[in-house]
Amino acid sequence: MKRSSNDAHKREKLDPNEDSKPLPWFITMTIGALFMWSATYIKETVMTAPPEAGDSRTMQTAELNCASGTGNLAKVAIDGGAVYQAKCLACHQANGQGIPGVFPPLAASEWVTGTPEVLANILLHGIDGKITVKGTEYNGQMPAFKDLLKDDEIAAVLTHIRAEWGNTSPPVDEKLVASIRESTKGRATFYDGDDELLKLEAN
Ligand code: HEC
Repeated sequence: MKRSSNDAHKREKLDPNEDSKPLPWFITMTIGALFMWSATYIKETVMTAPPEAGDSRTMQTAELNCASGTGNLAKVAIDGGAVYQAKCLACHQANGQGIPGVFPPLAASEWVTGTPEVLANILLHGIDGKITVKGTEYNGQMPAFKDLLKDDEIAAVLTHIRAEWGNTSPPVDEKLVASIRESTKGRATFYDGDDELLKLEAN
């Protein structure tokens, strides 16, 4: 049977055509709007996030460090509670009650609430000998912290224990710790408990 050329033509699909098809208008608009929003957002955002969210520096200290060229962190207040947790809690316990017969309490202790001079001496040089706390005698060893903590850390932890667990004694100044460190710098031994510490108190 003879087919007409017209038949063949009808059988074929249309040739593909390569139109230029722009993005639908709403996608273009959305991209444009997002772009404008983000530019405005960056420009308008005021940085109020707490410095802890970043590297803990406030804008001022960061600027100071840049200005002084040291790059060191500016002095930040030391958290006495954190020093306590790290250096004292294992023995004197979280509630400051110590462990009966082994570690004396710091809560309501006459040494803690007494003169800051004696207290700073205890921290710097430690105790090895009988010491009476709230009427009970202890005979253990309290480590010396002179090589483990700096003046400001000692002041901070002493200020902390003087204000915890019902204690209400005034803070201890870093300068006091520094001056006692200086005046006792020749000392290389622990304090011999009550005997020696009570003499300090008398001075
Ligand atoms: C390894 C255990 C240990 C650690 C750690 C320790 N202490 Fe003591 N502390 C003692 C012992 C034991 C005594 C009693 C000493 C004695 O019996 O001669 C004492 C005594 C004291 C006293 C005098 C007595 C009293 O109860 O008030 C103070 C104040 C004190 N410690 C504070 C601290 C602080 C602050 C820290 C942390 C910076 C600390 N201690 C870390 C074991 C420890």
